[in-house]
Amino acid sequence: MKEDLEEIQRQALKALESASDLRQINQLKTEFLGRKGSITQCLRKISTVPPEERHVVGKLANEVKTRLEAAFKKAVGTLKAFDDRPADALDVTLPGRSAFRGNLHPITQIKEKIFEIFLRLGFEIVEGPSVELDYYNFEALNIPKNHPARDMQDTFYVSDDIVLRTHTSPIQIRVMEKQSPPVRIIAPGEVYRVDSDISHTPMFHQVEGLMVDEGVSFGDLKGILTTFVHQIFDANTSLRFRPSFFPFTEPSAEVDIRCVMCRGSGCRVCSQTGWLEVLGAGMVHPAVFEMVNYDTEYYTGFAFGMGIERIAMLKYGIDDIRKFYENDIRFLQQF
Ligand code: PHE
Repeated sequence: MKEDLEEIQRQALKALESASDLRQINQLKTEFLGRKGSITQCLRKISTVPPEERHVVGKLANEVKTRLEAAFKKAVGTLKAFDDRPADALDVTLPGRSAFRGNLHPITQIKEKIFEIFLRLGFEIVEGPSVELDYYNFEALNIPKNHPARDMQDTFYVSDDIVLRTHTSPIQIRVMEKQSPPVRIIAPGEVYRVDSDISHTPMFHQVEGLMVDEGVSFGDLKGILTTFVHQIFDANTSLRFRPSFFPFTEPSAEVDIRCVMCRGSGCRVCSQTGWLEVLGAGMVHPAVFEMVNYDTEYYTGFAFGMGIERIAMLKYGIDDIRKFYENDIRFLQQF
């Protein structure tokens, strides 16, 4: 009988553990402690126990009864406390919701990589306005009114002499107006052109570079740009400088890199040429120096300008520039 009582206690506590509402608890209480419950029934058989052991069994029965009553009381109390909680109480038993983790836009990431490289090379970062005077965007860069070179850039005009800047080159002028050589800057920013297709958006980003000092040569330009390309792509990427034209540089060059996709054997991305154009560059035109009163007897300099989207597309193998601005989180999260 001792064992029976212990078994009843074990079963009752176990059942109580999985009871989740008041109705279940009360039902279990009747089952175990009620007038027809297991304990009462067990005690009815006490006459079968030898008289000398009766008081031991009786004592145990009372102990089990007290223990179970306490356990039921406690269970009811816990449940009541839970039901009485304020409606807006925090349920700490619910699993947490993990926080959504964002990342920087791929254009911002590439821009920061470009900054890192040029900061290590001793360049400073400068910015300028994106709504710009015609004077800075064109005239001071040796592109007079009615000059055919204005056709190279499809311009958004705000008024007769105010434009949305078509490139970051006007920042060169703003810097040189204020500062005498040596100058060593890069200038990032949004630029605007009337153009929209798979490889053009009306707004895109450029980074301008300018270095002016005594004795700055085309060799310095090649050295700086080679270092840059090797760091932003990889050390095995070769470059070539192709003669080109910009009104504000002379000589001017278009810089190509070996196709990052086919490594030069020719593919769709490089239109079978094995080369990809990445930026425009050249030696600052003396006419530009004259606009900012730099002495062309002493100073020479180079400038370059690159599209950040273009670099990002080549680096990540993206074939449509518009993807950067559709704000599809599934695309943006990959970087
Ligand atoms: N501003 C030129 C463009 O947008 C790029 C460039 C910058 C070329 C500096 C030469 C020197 O196409």
